[in-house]
Amino acid sequence: MPIDFDDPANSDTYSGREADPSWVAAMTSIVDPVGANVVDLGCGGGTYARAWRTLGAHVTAVDSSAPILESARRSSPTAIAFECAPAEHTGLTDGRADIVFARALVHHLPDVFGLATEMFRLLRSGGIAIVQDRTSQDAIRRGSPTNPRGYLFDAFPWLTEIESRRRPDVDEVKAAFTRAGFNDVVTQPLWETRRRYGNREQYLTEIAGRTGRSILHELSDGELAELIEYVRDRLAPGELIERDRWTLWTAAAP
Ligand SMILES: C[S@@+](CC[C@H](N)C(=O)[O-])C[C@H]1O[C@@H](n2cnc3c(N)ncnc32)[C@H](O)[C@@H]1O
Repeated sequence: MPIDFDDPANSDTYSGREADPSWVAAMTSIVDPVGANVVDLGCGGGTYARAWRTLGAHVTAVDSSAPILESARRSSPTAIAFECAPAEHTGLTDGRADIVFARALVHHLPDVFGLATEMFRLLRSGGIAIVQDRTSQDAIRRGSPTNPRGYLFDAFPWLTEIESRRRPDVDEVKAAFTRAGFNDVVTQPLWETRRRYGNREQYLTEIAGRTGRSILHELSDGELAELIEYVRDRLAPGELIERDRWTLWTAAAP
């Protein structure tokens, strides 16, 4: 069953994580966040809203889930403004943003054009939209010590179908942004260190809680227990650094 973002039981699923320097380096190579007005759509636990704030931006973070947003608010500085609204209809004023950002949101949306249209509306002329998501090529890779998520598909190959279906296609997103009126729609790969774990058991505790990985909600409790043993057998007990491959789409408002 897909994750229910509105279930209070999932309120902390995207909380408790901070952005890695690999992500910061990628963003600052694209935009200058100092003093910029940033809108973070589908902000989850606020990981990236806080990162933009630390980089010197004025941040408004939007999420459609009240419990998830409340969790983000609790763990973030008061300087960040939080709004509970759908990313496609935020209700924020036109042209207010220098940067509109959406990470790991597109693969949860039925229609990327609605998001592109709202990003276009929110940006001032010359502003930049940044979408970070994983295509199926990014998401479905063999398991390895730096890609333990891949063991999910090795252990349960039927999940590949579910994952492929929900993942955006590079050209589909590009076309939606062009159709919404953006110029210079380009893509680039991003390798982001997701998290550093002191040891294997810390990682497995997150998996057991289905934390921050919505695909795990597709598994029954029994399958999840099987997965944990499968992964435990394949990882060394010590430190683990999880690195994910993403696609970044950037687009400029004319
Ligand atoms: C996978 S999480 C990503 C969270 C955060 N951006 C990150 O990268 O850590 C997706 C988030 O999008 C939110 N979401 C899903 N559909 C949404 C929509 N239509 N509008 C706004 N938020 C949405 C969910 O509540 C969830 O918090």
